Amino acid sequence: MVLVSKLGRLHSERIAEMMNIWVILPVWLCYDNGGVDMALKTALIVILCILAFPILWISVVKLIRKLYPFPAPAIIGRFLDSGYRRRIQLPSQLIERSGIREGMKVLDLGCGSGAFTPFIARTVGEKGKVYALDIQADMLAQLERKLAKPENRDIKNVKLVRANAYELPFDDGFFDLVYMVTVLQEIPDRKRALQEVGRVLKKGGILAVTELFPDPDYPWKSTTIKLGTENGFVVDKTSGNFFNYTVRFKKL
Ligand SMILES: C[S@@+](CC[C@H](N)C(=O)[O-])C[C@H]1O[C@@H](n2cnc3c(N)ncnc32)[C@H](O)[C@@H]1O
Repeated sequence: MVLVSKLGRLHSERIAEMMNIWVILPVWLCYDNGGVDMALKTALIVILCILAFPILWISVVKLIRKLYPFPAPAIIGRFLDSGYRRRIQLPSQLIERSGIREGMKVLDLGCGSGAFTPFIARTVGEKGKVYALDIQADMLAQLERKLAKPENRDIKNVKLVRANAYELPFDDGFFDLVYMVTVLQEIPDRKRALQEVGRVLKKGGILAVTELFPDPDYPWKSTTIKLGTENGFVVDKTSGNFFNYTVRFKKL
């Protein structure tokens, strides 16, 4: 009882503190007392507005997703596979960070519209193979159309698979590497998915998890590391920065 009332008090104190900030800050920002102060305030207003949009966007989508879990709609497939996206998440950089090499058998888990699939296919080459797996048929259809384009006709080592991360249709120890870009946090039961990933990976195999801000499901790097290590993986290497990072795990 004491603990409950303490928590309740703490909660209301925090709410009061936050309310104070949200009341005092705008009043202070809008109060014109002239001089250098005004330039500083204008700069602060601009910074707050720039920060507010992605934070608001992430918070709203996160809340909706928590209440009603659903995968990223296939309609965003065009954005995921756009030139703009490739500029902020260079495929060659992600492939290098993930440790994809010639001859590997790679699972592109939650491949979406296949933003990275052709790049992975060319990296693993003829001796390797890519299994591009997604839960949504509409995402896979976009990838199929992309692979049928003249510039991709040379790619013969990609197999499209429609399946759920909870039940991967592969034998134990089948893959050298599982590649997940902005996918893991979208899966409601991440523990179950990671157990499946662990099952289909070879001993010593790699799970490469890449996250991007401001993806609405973006987690801190420490959250991703905790998730992986709590589910039987060890950290092999981390790279990138706050906005765009990769954690490479190893299955022991
Ligand atoms: C944000 S998109 C990322 C797609 C791609 N990796 C990329 O970076 O462009 C997430 C993808 O994960 C897929 N996905 C979500 N939950 C899944 C699950 N349980 N099993 C398989 N795929 C899933 C979604 O359908 C969606 O295509």
